Amino acid sequence: MDTTWILFVTPILLCTLIFYCRNKLSLKLKSKHRNQLPLGTLGLPFIGETIEFVSCAYTDRPESFMNKRRAMYGKVFKSHIFGSPTIVSTDADVNKFILQSDAKLFVPSYPKSLMKLMGESSILLINGTLQRRIHGLIGAFFKSQQLKIQITTDMEKYVQESMANWKEDQPIYIQDETKKIAFYVLVKALISLDPGEEMELLKKHFQEFISGLMSLPINLPGTKLYQSLQAKRKMAKLVRKTIEARRNKGITEVPKDVVDVLLNDTSERLTDDLIADNIIDMMIPGEDSVPVLMTLATKYLSECPAALQQLTVRHEENIQLKKLKDQLEEPLCWSDYLSLPFTQRVITETLRMGNIINGVMRKALKDVEIKGYLIPQGWCVFANFRSVHLDEKNYDCPYQFNPWRWQNKEMNSYNFSPFGGGQRLCPGIDLARLEASIFLHHLVTQFRRYNSELPNSKNEKKDAHRSKKSGNLSCLSSQKFEATSTY
Ligand code: HEM
Repeated sequence: MDTTWILFVTPILLCTLIFYCRNKLSLKLKSKHRNQLPLGTLGLPFIGETIEFVSCAYTDRPESFMNKRRAMYGKVFKSHIFGSPTIVSTDADVNKFILQSDAKLFVPSYPKSLMKLMGESSILLINGTLQRRIHGLIGAFFKSQQLKIQITTDMEKYVQESMANWKEDQPIYIQDETKKIAFYVLVKALISLDPGEEMELLKKHFQEFISGLMSLPINLPGTKLYQSLQAKRKMAKLVRKTIEARRNKGITEVPKDVVDVLLNDTSERLTDDLIADNIIDMMIPGEDSVPVLMTLATKYLSECPAALQQLTVRHEENIQLKKLKDQLEEPLCWSDYLSLPFTQRVITETLRMGNIINGVMRKALKDVEIKGYLIPQGWCVFANFRSVHLDEKNYDCPYQFNPWRWQNKEMNSYNFSPFGGGQRLCPGIDLARLEASIFLHHLVTQFRRYNSELPNSKNEKKDAHRSKKSGNLSCLSSQKFEATSTY
């Protein structure tokens, strides 16, 4: 029998079905909610506007996706990305409402492959009392004096070791260097592992693991997602070994790392698998967000001689502090670093301009109305921080790196939310700022910028070099800046 007709009829039938379903969905929404849904378009069937969203994300202006729609539809608009109808908010008040809402209104929702890799018990995905419990335990430990002292010692050690190896006339890939440093520091804080064979193995599996965070949601042998899940399984095995050894040893009164903190919890809801999964997920900022912060700060400083000068010239804060501590023969302590006001402003401005985390995604559990906009039940909502941070109504000349703008400006408004907010406010804020401060202090007190020209991207590998005491900071900084965060 000739079956070629099937080839022609099937696509027609499929298309008809898709359009019928879409029209029904849209009619249902219109009749239920009249005009309350934000303006915007759902784009193509199934893929929606994902292709444009992703292609903008890979340019140096990822916010162009938002800006174009914002100009047409307003600060809050509807779209269809990563397989879900989505309300995108570039409005600080709407973002604040979303971040401050609890799990009765919104739950975290991310692309499928990301959720699968994080695992059901990841703190980034769980809700209610369990999330609050883990958040509280981790947050308190990350704020503790004892951990800050340890982080400062480790950070100084690894920064010095790394910088001692920066060879003259060789390019320095700041992001690679800072990845190594921050990963070692964080893994030590999480499971007390020191550099060595086991650390290298963990790092190898970890790199395989994160390479699949933004993959297609197909879990078959050979796919990126499959390989990432395998790598996570191997890491979980290594971490579980540590957990079992600690369980056998018994509870420690003063926790020395996050494993101890979670094991000491008496609620009995924290299983070994949950602890292992969360330890692995918490390695992500160590390998990703914190190094991106340090790399971007270096890049912005090298492009802004006035700011660099304020950090380094004679009598300025970093040099003064170094001199004082050298005279007293004392090492710098964590509060010294956090007390450097201009360094803190440089970090704040880097967070604003760099947008290491573009925003957070949630799913509405019921119809929610905010500022007259409706977010229908089952829809995703993307609270976009980037557009708020780069809005000229909130910041004069938003694309200009200007640490001085923070001199008399409040940081605790939702016009500035690089670490999120509400119940899920990043518990790693202090650590991230401390690590970046230590790195910048050593960079600017050991290296000097002598060349105001940045090498262009073609020649940058060839040209980039540094020489101790007269190093070219701009060359040091100009590598791999397109890297973005994965959660
Ligand atoms: C520049 C560095 C960092 C940035 C920009 C950043 C940003 C964020 C943001 C925006 C959130 C909120 C996610 C949400 O609401 O769904 C978050 C959550 C979180 N961050 Fe960070 N982070 C950074 C560093 C760190 C560090 C060093 C750690 C330490 C391990 C850390 C651990 C966490 C954890 C555990 C959560 C989940 C909190 C929860 O859902 O209860 N972060 N981070």
